[in-house]
Amino acid sequence: MKAKTVFVCNECGYESAKWMGKCPACNSWNTFVEEKISTKIENGKKEKKVQEAPKPLNSYIGQDAKRISTGYDELDRVLGGGLVKGSLVLVGGEPGIGKSTLILQICNKIKGEGKVLYVSGEESAEQIKLRADRLDINNDDILFLGETDIDIIDENIEELNPKLVIIDSMQTMYSEEISSAPGSVSQVREITSRIMKICKSKKITTIIIGHVTKDGNIAGPRVLEHMVDTVLYIEGERYFSYRMVRGVKNRFGSTNEVGMFEMQEKGMVEITNPSSILISEREENPSGSIIVATIEGTRPLLVELQALVTQSVFGLPRRTANGIDYNRLTLLVAVMEKKANFMLGNQDVYLNVVGGLKLNEPALDLGIILATASSFKNISIPKDVVVFGEVGLTGEVRTINMVEKRLKEAERLGFKRCIIPENNKKLLKESYKLDIIGVKNINEAMKAIGLR
Ligand code: TYD
Ligand code: MG
Repeated sequence: MKAKTVFVCNECGYESAKWMGKCPACNSWNTFVEEKISTKIENGKKEKKVQEAPKPLNSYIGQDAKRISTGYDELDRVLGGGLVKGSLVLVGGEPGIGKSTLILQICNKIKGEGKVLYVSGEESAEQIKLRADRLDINNDDILFLGETDIDIIDENIEELNPKLVIIDSMQTMYSEEISSAPGSVSQVREITSRIMKICKSKKITTIIIGHVTKDGNIAGPRVLEHMVDTVLYIEGERYFSYRMVRGVKNRFGSTNEVGMFEMQEKGMVEITNPSSILISEREENPSGSIIVATIEGTRPLLVELQALVTQSVFGLPRRTANGIDYNRLTLLVAVMEKKANFMLGNQDVYLNVVGGLKLNEPALDLGIILATASSFKNISIPKDVVVFGEVGLTGEVRTINMVEKRLKEAERLGFKRCIIPENNKKLLKESYKLDIIGVKNINEAMKAIGLR
């Protein structure tokens, strides 16, 4: 008999009998892959379902009551107060970013009774043991299983009933019932739903590790992200030591929190006071450097921006942005040319966020412009100044949110002056030791720090 196949969209999981260029469900192109239909469906057998009667919603215990601390405040905050018991968490990140390291550390630190089951299809027991030794982890509660067959993993979870299960990684696991290769859409879907079934029914918290492709998504289908409760990404430049853990999806909390860690000799160390570390290496008074107050989630962060403006050697001037959006930089450079008469058409502009952080907030605009102006004019910005504000296309400095938090952070770290949007200044209620200068447009901001 001819094996039956089906075409599945890699993005949304839409199924079709024939191949299509464009997915009718999510409109993405070239996302269909051919897969064999699982034998389960082929045989027409349906699993018996356990009948469960509806119960009043109020009779369930609220999720908050059942949070388990990971042992790291930085991570607990991103999760919305710890791991929710019985939840399914997906942790993504590029290879070598520190996923396995951080998760192993959590296995060691997690609170609560019971064992932890670490299932790895990536590394051998010896490799994990070496890592554990390096991290000074010596914990009898961590059990290791080097396995990729979901049936065997299932049995082990059933038997052991651990408090936490780690699957490292999703892409290495497979189910015999599905004939396609590990990592394919139907495999990933089957594995996730199997894990979900057992962990939800037994209320076992599970962390699944997933690889990230070059374009920044978790490899394989997006369906995986839809199925789990929480998705975290570990980000950072590989050759910088800072790592940010970012919540991308969270059924049990807000999604915009960020936790900061540093990859050190002995694993990931949480950074509870990131601002002071991020600005600690600043040179005395270089031109092109400025401190901006940004917000990551709900936390203010002082970060150093550096710009370098040099004469272009080629006809076309270069723009390079590290840690901020490239298009934003070109737009702001255009605003400077048009609204502040900066002749940057024959100048290369390089912009860098110190520490390898990736920031994406309109409040950085003013800092980007002032750093660029400072480098172009070779005039340094006073060391005690912090700036923030969004810049519009006419060069106006627009209001931003969470101004009080930013000012407090600047004050706490000993800064003396703050350049902020004029309209934000008008709305301030509290008084500050800082000298707060409100500006309406980029020219006023430049005057305020001696760039005009
Ligand atoms: P790893 O957790 O294996 O990354 P992933 O699981 O995301 O692929 O981390 C690998 C990198 O981390 C590796 O380059 C070595 C480095 N590392 C440290 O710097 N310190 C440590 O204590 C450990 C265990 C790893
Ligand atoms: Mg790993």
